[in-house]
Amino acid sequence: MANSNIEVKDILERFRELFGLISPKIIGVDIGQSSVKIAEIEKKGDSFKLVKFLKKDLPEGSIVEDEVQKPDEIKQIISAAIKKGGFSTSQVCLGLYGPNTIARKLQLAGGSEEELEDQVFWEAEQYLPFPLEDSNLDHHLVGENIGGGVDVIVAAIKKDVMTKFKGLVEADGSVVKVADLSSIAISNLFIEHINQTQDEDDNRSRMLIDFGSQKTIFIMIKNRMPIFVKEVMMGGMVVTEEIQRQLGVNFAEAEDLKITTDGQGNLPEEIVSIINSINQTIIAEIRKAYDIYISATSDDDLAGCYVTGGSIRLPKFLDSLSKNLNVDITVFNPFETIEYASSFTEEDLSEIAYIGAVSLGLAMRSVEV
Ligand SMILES: Nc1ncnc2c1ncn2[C@@H]1O[C@H](COP(=O)(O)OP(=O)(O)OP(=O)(O)O)[C@@H](O)[C@H]1O
Ligand SMILES: [Mg+2]
Repeated sequence: MANSNIEVKDILERFRELFGLISPKIIGVDIGQSSVKIAEIEKKGDSFKLVKFLKKDLPEGSIVEDEVQKPDEIKQIISAAIKKGGFSTSQVCLGLYGPNTIARKLQLAGGSEEELEDQVFWEAEQYLPFPLEDSNLDHHLVGENIGGGVDVIVAAIKKDVMTKFKGLVEADGSVVKVADLSSIAISNLFIEHINQTQDEDDNRSRMLIDFGSQKTIFIMIKNRMPIFVKEVMMGGMVVTEEIQRQLGVNFAEAEDLKITTDGQGNLPEEIVSIINSINQTIIAEIRKAYDIYISATSDDDLAGCYVTGGSIRLPKFLDSLSKNLNVDITVFNPFETIEYASSFTEEDLSEIAYIGAVSLGLAMRSVEV
């Protein structure tokens, strides 16, 4: 019974879209390692407004890299969240990431759309860490380059990963209408921010970092495009694991020890030393990625470094990163440019700013009907 209702609703929605009675709506779903985030954004003219946001924690070890360890639990959590979250649609823009994805800028000869597509396929084949025939490819034209050709950003994902992640979301009438790489989604949100806050002719490079639970995404934005992306499969979870190992406590206790301070912002000495050592490791990875970027582009004019992700709250992380890169660090606040429904409290907005950026970027994507 429930199923047939959903089918009718689905058909109706498509029907109405066809006749242009409602604008196509979408929710952004980011399946992170520690939690799933779902966002709905309304677009009015040039402005965006967050109308709904939901975060649901995932059980420990649900996902490792892009290996889904607990598919049934994740499916149930996502399906309940979409159903009960008060969203106006169950059409999804899904975020994808991991070692079986790639985002890369390519320099191509250019030409007609068809010629460009051929070049994308031809070039991508050389860079993909997996066979072209097993992948989904997307490309975005950046513009002409000084060599007379064109710059293109190519995003690719291995098909079986896409199928696996889609399967986590598509239950009870939810449909994945479009998928995007998490790195591209977060870049889109950030570029929107730059467009609204910086002079039109300021195209200097900016670093954007998402320091999550299992991964750290490093992106260089230049000319308002993500021209260099690196995903490091290491995040704040390493701190939790190290606390578990060194102190012989379980996962929940270790998370608690990592996050709970004494009221004056202090943590026990042994926890601080674990955090310091892992901060240094992550910062060294960020530095390495930045050095690769500089040597590939000769561009060392960094206009700013913006950070997001739950783990940037690790004590001393921001200070140490700032010293290492010799640049001021800004905690990226999407709500300087994105409006929000009045139902969100200051506390909600602060939490969403830390952990929600990928889902906001996914929710901003419009769907072609
Ligand atoms: N106050 C805090 N101090 C330090 N770390 C924190 C704090 N609050 C949350 N975290 C950590 O932030 C991480 C969750 O952040 P986030 O939601 O950005 O990750 P995720 O999206 O689930 O993971 P990923 O993107 O790596 O798949 C967890 O590892 C959690 O322990
Ligand atoms: Mg994340």
